[in-house]
Amino acid sequence: MQHVGQEVTLSGWVQNVNDLGFMMFLNLRDRYGITQLSFNEEKTPKDLFEKARSLGREYVIKAEGTVIERASKNPKLPTGDIEILVKKLDILNTSKVPPFTIDDDTDGGDDLRMKYRYLDIRRSPVQQSLIFRSNVAIETRKYLAGEGFIEVETPNLIKSTPEGARDFVVPSRMNPGQFYALPQSPQTFKQLLMVAGMDKYFQIVRCFRDEDLRADRQPEFTQIDCEMAFVTREDILNTFEGLTKHLFKTVCGIELSDFPRMEYDEAMRRYGSDKPDTRFGMEFCELNDLAKGKGFGVFDNAEMVVGICAEGQAGGYSNKDLKKLTEWMQRPQVGAKGLVWVKVNADGTFKSTVGKFFSEEDLKAWADKMNAKPGDLLLILSGETDKTRKQLNELRLEMARRMELMKPGDFKPMWIVNFPLLEWDEDSGRFHAMHHPFTSPLPEDEEKMLGGDHETMKRLKANAYDLVINGVEIGGGSIRIHDRMLQEKNFKLLGFTEEEAEAQFGFLLGAFDYGAPPHGGIAFGFDRLCAVMRGQTSIRDFIAFPKNNMGRDMMIDAPSRIDEGQLEELGLEVKVGKE
Ligand code: AMO
Repeated sequence: MQHVGQEVTLSGWVQNVNDLGFMMFLNLRDRYGITQLSFNEEKTPKDLFEKARSLGREYVIKAEGTVIERASKNPKLPTGDIEILVKKLDILNTSKVPPFTIDDDTDGGDDLRMKYRYLDIRRSPVQQSLIFRSNVAIETRKYLAGEGFIEVETPNLIKSTPEGARDFVVPSRMNPGQFYALPQSPQTFKQLLMVAGMDKYFQIVRCFRDEDLRADRQPEFTQIDCEMAFVTREDILNTFEGLTKHLFKTVCGIELSDFPRMEYDEAMRRYGSDKPDTRFGMEFCELNDLAKGKGFGVFDNAEMVVGICAEGQAGGYSNKDLKKLTEWMQRPQVGAKGLVWVKVNADGTFKSTVGKFFSEEDLKAWADKMNAKPGDLLLILSGETDKTRKQLNELRLEMARRMELMKPGDFKPMWIVNFPLLEWDEDSGRFHAMHHPFTSPLPEDEEKMLGGDHETMKRLKANAYDLVINGVEIGGGSIRIHDRMLQEKNFKLLGFTEEEAEAQFGFLLGAFDYGAPPHGGIAFGFDRLCAVMRGQTSIRDFIAFPKNNMGRDMMIDAPSRIDEGQLEELGLEVKVGKE
């Protein structure tokens, strides 16, 4: 309102036109919002009125006029008290009718929005997400620079780094038959920077991984990547807890309290997941001691009987609903064999699928152990421990969604620490690194790693940690191995021969011979962090030009074929089956 009476010039796009005959209103959109322009038969010259009438949606215009108070105000708009009575209008460009509505809610499907991403980005929610991302990046740089970190760029044309996904590769014209790999992360380079004495490194860096895509995974994504020398795990967790708090405070105005820490084993036992969503309870309750040995074969033969208590849900679930829930659990994506349920009735009696195998006292003992009250619904799974926990984690999250327990604006960050170092893979008959091959064991496990037997290796703990917020893995890191012998041993455990380790990682092993300091680091998924901070599950709108689930850029139509000449120059022959 303080602008009333001022002469202004605005440029932007025509959002919509409302022609009342004797008056015309037009919403002009620019990066800063929407402003109403008005044309009035009495006050607007006829040719200007006609010009305004020729405007269509998304025309680009420049309007000059006077700020006046609106007759009917719009409380939904920050500029809703005023309008511009236009005196001069330039049409800077025309526009075809856009393929979808450019508004907060759009009628455009995902692929259409991606094809015309430049129009999609004109929509306020996408624009706001990108502005938010920019703010998070700026504050990240401020915080880390303040802590003495140096931003160093590492190359994109490198040799493969094993981070668990497939590499994207780039053929080399000057070295026929040879390929670069795009980095899955700058892991080895940041370690080499530590050997080089750059003791606090960071980079907001693009990473590339050829893996199956989901809402929170893109083939190219960004990390806030860091490494520090002469530090312990404590220094790293404190620094990056500090960064996270700083970002929430400066960008969202939210003060986070200190992050709790939980051991990996405990997270698996209580939540069946290494990234538990702790915005709500519904923790696992193991029932082996109460549920086995009562003649119910499914439980008797199971390694683990474990359940959750869904508060107040007994009344809301009919037998049919519970059958549907069981079927949901039996889908291949979850893979449960069945689901046992117990309703705690209002009068303290029980109704259950397994009522004929268990007495009221048995069921009461379960309910007591699970802290169940009348009206609660107990949901129980059984089977092999790891699988059953994983399935119950899916059920816990699904019940929380149905019960609307994930409250917007509620943030529950936590550190998960002490992951297993190695995972034994039955199929390939070898160990895999749970984090990556450069992760060091806990100091007390180093001796065991150098001299232990196969079973000992399975139990080694890594000096590795993840930051989890609201059930999303935001980042992960570890204290690294900086001793050549230990690193060689790790490669050996991971199935590399000495020659293979030398060929792939000779540069790093070699660097360890020249005074490598103790070091460690972490990387946050930057796109994921932005999405979680804004309470969203998909990272797509935090990336200006994302790819779809088939890894395609719908706008530029990539990937695409290259011409014969290019192939020849690269010394490549392409054999493609069906189109
Ligand atoms: P990690 O592989 O755990 O660790 O990756 C770190 C974080 O990056 C994010 N992330 C992704 N985000 C979007 N799309 C993807 N495809 C994707 N893949 C991973 C996740 C993850 O937590 N070099 C180590 C870090 C270290 O040890 O310092 C690394 O890359 O949020």
